[in-house]
Amino acid sequence: LRSTANLLPRPIHIGTAVAVNPLMTDTLYARTVASQYSMVTPENDMKFQFIHPQPNIYAFAEADAIVDFARQNKIAVHGHTLAWHEAIPQWVSAMENDPAKITAIFRDHIITVTSHYKGKITEWDVVNEPVRDLNMDENAGLRGSSPWFKAMGEEYIDIAFNLVHNIDPAAKLYINEYGVEELDETDPDNKCNVLYRLVKRLQKRHVPIHGIAFQVHEDMGKGKTPVTPDALARTMKKFTDLGLEVRVSEMDVSLHGTETAPLLSRQAAYYKAILAVCMANPKCSGFSTWGFTDRYSSLGWRDNETGKVNYGNGLPFDERSQPKEAYYALLSQL
Ligand code: XIL
Repeated sequence: LRSTANLLPRPIHIGTAVAVNPLMTDTLYARTVASQYSMVTPENDMKFQFIHPQPNIYAFAEADAIVDFARQNKIAVHGHTLAWHEAIPQWVSAMENDPAKITAIFRDHIITVTSHYKGKITEWDVVNEPVRDLNMDENAGLRGSSPWFKAMGEEYIDIAFNLVHNIDPAAKLYINEYGVEELDETDPDNKCNVLYRLVKRLQKRHVPIHGIAFQVHEDMGKGKTPVTPDALARTMKKFTDLGLEVRVSEMDVSLHGTETAPLLSRQAAYYKAILAVCMANPKCSGFSTWGFTDRYSSLGWRDNETGKVNYGNGLPFDERSQPKEAYYALLSQL
């Protein structure tokens, strides 16, 4: 996937999420990342509870190992993530009734982590999943259960972007969100519409946001139909018309345990069509999958959801880390 990237008419990163354990212990895994990808996203190691497990204790070793691996192999790093409602350690939740303390922790966290990686990380998911799933009527559709929102309201987003931009003005700063692939401007509760209106408010307040990352976790088989590539193309254009960049940040296509030849072909065609959508928009900066091999889907969030191993089979390499039809389909698009 990587070897053809320099032949593209414009640079686009082809990336994957990586976990530190297989990266250090599984040579085929490490070799595949190094040879096939030009960008990595740490799957978990930069999340709050892992990188900042105790007050005033930052645990950078795992995330540093990924960043060092990337540097050695001339791979860019997409930082994930600074402000999320999940992966919050107990010591932070315990202070939920003290907004001033939560705000101070939030600022210290963002300043410390982005200063540590300044110049080593070219782009950040500054805010992850700020939009609610249901009952959009409250909080302008934003996720009110987030401790950051509870303490600061919507302003937590402004604070986060401004802090990161001041520390590392060269970094490209994103909001990363799922379930926002299809914009319906006629429906105020449409998750993407909520995001779109949020972005317009941020721009009005001159918040330094540079892009929107679309997770594109999709499902196929068992009667599930993924979003159409055309819908994603239209949505991306709406955001790039606002002067923003876009990217596909966490694609996977779960087959829900059914792995038939026709389904694998459909999965491949779908991967190819989504990559084509990104490549057709001159402001789409990258295409990343959430992991690359079904071998470690047991580490992946899809399996964690059900406790079943190999539930998803949603990635371009199989359980033996050999390329699937999806891999060749992606390659043919590059
Ligand atoms: C997931 C990881 O893949 C799992 O290992 C972890 O247990 C939970 O988080 N959206 C995101 C990612 O932005 O951070 C999530 O990653 C998957 C959904």
